[in-house]
Amino acid sequence: MKGPIGVFDSGYGGLTILDSIRQRMPQYDYVYLGDNARAPYGIRSFDVVYEFTLQAVKKLFELGCPLVILGCNTASAKALRTIQQEYLPKYAPDRRVLGVIRPTAEVVGDISKTRHIGVLATTGTIKSESYTMEISKLHPDCAVTGLACPMWVPLVENGEHDKPGADYFVQERIETLLSLDPEIDTVILGCTHYPLLLDKISRYCPQGITLIPQGKYIAESLEDYLDRHTDMEQSITRGGACRYFTTESASEFRNSASLFLRENIEAERIVL
Ligand code: DGL
Repeated sequence: MKGPIGVFDSGYGGLTILDSIRQRMPQYDYVYLGDNARAPYGIRSFDVVYEFTLQAVKKLFELGCPLVILGCNTASAKALRTIQQEYLPKYAPDRRVLGVIRPTAEVVGDISKTRHIGVLATTGTIKSESYTMEISKLHPDCAVTGLACPMWVPLVENGEHDKPGADYFVQERIETLLSLDPEIDTVILGCTHYPLLLDKISRYCPQGITLIPQGKYIAESLEDYLDRHTDMEQSITRGGACRYFTTESASEFRNSASLFLRENIEAERIVL
């Protein structure tokens, strides 16, 4: 069976991942699904994030996707492993679901000189300790300090990310992170919404700190995955098309998505 690559997020944030993936691999077809009706996921429990994410993955499978990217750190942290280890082998052995945490954790080893890494993410992702565990496995010499930024997603979702009020919340979190570990030289932006705050984050980070927005690395890692898995690569349709689905209002999605994508799109409402 052939079909498009599915990209899932709790809302709009995964569009930053989709954007990077499409820029790198424009030849494939894509389907984006945002569970806007139930976003944000960052504050929800493991069980609930798993249940919601599995529903979305099943829907993307129904839409014909052989491969689904969880373009959401919270879903990757809380649902990916169970989907890969328990759901897929039983119910969809030919399909694959990939996340965004491992490819991001992989790159910091080559970047950090001090071996002190900071992770900024949602409360759910930080509490899951997924980044700490993944980085410790891949780069055992690195110390990881995570800090939740509960105000950042609402700032972006409400279109306040480029307004002066956002400066306070960005500066306060950066300063808190660096006070917890002043030796940090590499900061992972472990939430798909944060690239929209990148200008302000860069402004309040002292020089010498490397910021890691994820899109570029996820796109590189996916390309590498498809190079290594030719059967999967052959099962992706090619046409450069992208369809957008949301669980909330289609017109609302269309308007807000243009903020993330810098282009006009059409969206359809879907029920999970
Ligand atoms: N997209 C989610 C992430 O990357 C953040 C938004 C949410 O909390 O749902 O963690």
